[in-house]
Amino acid sequence: MVGFRRLIVVFSSIGLLIVLFSQCMDAEADKGYELVATDSTKAGMTTCIQCHGNIYDDYQNNPHQKTSSVIKGHDLLQANSAISNQFSFDDHLKIAVERRDSGAYQVAYVDNKEQLSRRFDVAFGSGKDAITFATWQGNRLNQLQLTYFSRLKTWANSPGYRDKQLYFSREIDVRCLECHASFAENKITKTESLVTSKELIRGSISYGIDCERCHGPAAKHAEFQLKHPEQKGAKYISLSKSFTRKQKTDACAVCHSGSDRKALRSTFVFKAGDDLDEFLGKDSQTAVDPDVHGQQMQSLAGSQCFIQSKTLDCNTCHTIHGNKNEGLAGYSDKCISCHQTVKHSDRTLSSGIVLKKNCIDCHMPKKSSKAISFKLSGNSKIAAYLLRTHKIAVY
Ligand code: HEC
Ligand code: HEC
Ligand code: HEC
Ligand code: HEC
Ligand code: HEC
Ligand code: HEC
Ligand code: HEC
Repeated sequence: MVGFRRLIVVFSSIGLLIVLFSQCMDAEADKGYELVATDSTKAGMTTCIQCHGNIYDDYQNNPHQKTSSVIKGHDLLQANSAISNQFSFDDHLKIAVERRDSGAYQVAYVDNKEQLSRRFDVAFGSGKDAITFATWQGNRLNQLQLTYFSRLKTWANSPGYRDKQLYFSREIDVRCLECHASFAENKITKTESLVTSKELIRGSISYGIDCERCHGPAAKHAEFQLKHPEQKGAKYISLSKSFTRKQKTDACAVCHSGSDRKALRSTFVFKAGDDLDEFLGKDSQTAVDPDVHGQQMQSLAGSQCFIQSKTLDCNTCHTIHGNKNEGLAGYSDKCISCHQTVKHSDRTLSSGIVLKKNCIDCHMPKKSSKAISFKLSGNSKIAAYLLRTHKIAVY
């Protein structure tokens, strides 16, 4: 009970309304392909510890691993004691976050009369910026109406939801999970040619992104290496040393190029080293003007650094397995590794910014997402959702 009491910080709702969160919303569209089960050839993350202990340890705090998870009991309420407990749309309609016997619930009220309640079962997002929640209704995973915006420390209507309208039945489909989980299978019911229903097989879902989500099923690799400890080289796993730059960036772009590209095959079977063009169709027009949210690949690909260096890739700046936030100075060192001598004008040099420590704010400025924005109720202005652009340039 204690955790929950701490939660009751009365919160006067500012009526945040997220107009759209398109990358994640588009994911709803039926992509019309079937999944190939691959789970049986996986070894599981703990198998990797004995030989890749350092990488395993590093990876424990990486946001990828926590990007989807099961909510157990009242954990949610205990963990986020600073979370206010309700969101009011207006004087009549509100949704409260409440503790009930079987867990934490979102409960909708009209004029203080309960309309419906849904349990928090699954969380999407590690919580860096936001966490979206879902509840099981049979074998369907439905999104809960309130999303928690960590940076603003507030609940708000989930992205894409209409203001002042209760809606608890938006389905979270397998496409969401393709980017936010390691595995999930659909049960597809068909009459001759028509797909009549698609349900998730609940027990098939493997939450969070694990080693084999990126590297591919590695049971055979682990078994071989165990039997042949004298073998220093790896077998039955794609060797990154021979990756081309496209292979390297594809390993990230599979989830970091948005969801506009038509899915040809399930990306659950994509592994580092594969050619992404065999999984996702040609980029649509967004490639010309990519959004800062979710389309890091397209933005970076439009930068002179990427085009002219031929070597720059995501891993030049990001550590894949660790959780090291380089900080602006750390990231700037990466820039300097290629740009030892830069001719800045006197005007730039007198900007007051210590250039060496912060190339980022000028050349990868925060820009507002076209896909996500906020509306404050009682205020017609739309507030921006700022993310860093990956198009490195002179702004
Ligand atoms: C019995 C020891 C052993 C186990 C268990 C094991 N590996 Fe390996 N693995 C090796 C060895 C040895 C290499 C080659 C040396 C190196 O790159 O560390 C290797 C290399 C790799 C590589 C690098 C390939 C490259 O060069 O780019 C990946 C990726 C990899 N293992 C993934 C895994 C994953 C994922 C698991 C757990 C499911 C796992 N390994 C379990 C021994 C093992
Ligand atoms: C094509 C891959 C892809 C799909 C599909 C996708 N996401 Fe995401 N999602 C991402 C990436 C990448 C990020 C983080 C980077 C960013 O915001 O650009 C993210 C961020 C998020 C965040 C914020 C996480 C945080 O810690 O701040 C939430 C919440 C989220 N997604 C929920 C969803 C939900 C719910 C769906 C399905 C309706 C979905 N996503 C579908 C790739 C995807
Ligand atoms: C988000 C995707 C992703 C996840 C998750 C991931 N890896 Fe990797 N890993 C990569 C990529 C991409 C490379 C190749 C890097 C490069 O370009 O050289 C790599 C490289 C490696 C290597 C060889 C190079 C090195 O650093 O020694 C090993 C071994 C490895 N990973 C093991 C693991 C293990 C074990 C886990 C889980 C604890 C894991 N990886 C999780 C993407 C991932
Ligand atoms: C299976 C899908 C998937 C793959 C593959 C993937 N990512 Fe991500 N990535 C995500 C999602 C989902 C998030 C949002 C995590 C969260 O919930 O906070 C994310 C977040 C991030 C973040 C921001 C979080 C942080 O660490 O500060 C970075 C940076 C990132 N990814 C880099 C990469 C790089 C580099 C690669 C390739 C080696 C890669 N990702 C491969 C899905 C993926
Ligand atoms: C792998 C090497 C490499 C890295 C790392 C790198 N760049 Fe570049 N960058 C280049 C090359 C090559 C060019 C094109 C030739 C030139 O203008 O110097 C370039 C061009 C630029 C330009 C001119 C852009 C234009 O549109 O004319 C700017 C500004 C720039 N880089 C800033 C940065 C910043 C800031 C970082 C770090 C966030 C960075 N670069 C990281 C290689 C790199
Ligand atoms: C030249 C350096 C550089 C390269 C290359 C690079 N990033 Fe980043 N990335 C950054 C910086 C700087 C940030 C902002 C970090 C911060 O503010 O803490 C960032 C942030 C992110 C985030 C978090 C989103 C946000 O705005 O908070 C994601 C996701 C991400 N990068 C993915 C990628 C992917 C995928 C690639 C390859 C396609 C990539 N990055 C290549 C420098 C780079
Ligand atoms: C105060 C903003 C600011 C900061 C900080 C800054 N730059 Fe620049 N940069 C600019 C502007 C503006 C230009 C265009 C030329 C000019 O007016 O100085 C430029 C031009 C460049 C160019 C293209 C010119 C050339 O010589 O090729 C590169 C490369 C570059 N910057 C890299 C960097 C790197 C690396 C850092 C960090 C060590 C950095 N910049 C820090 C604003 C900035």
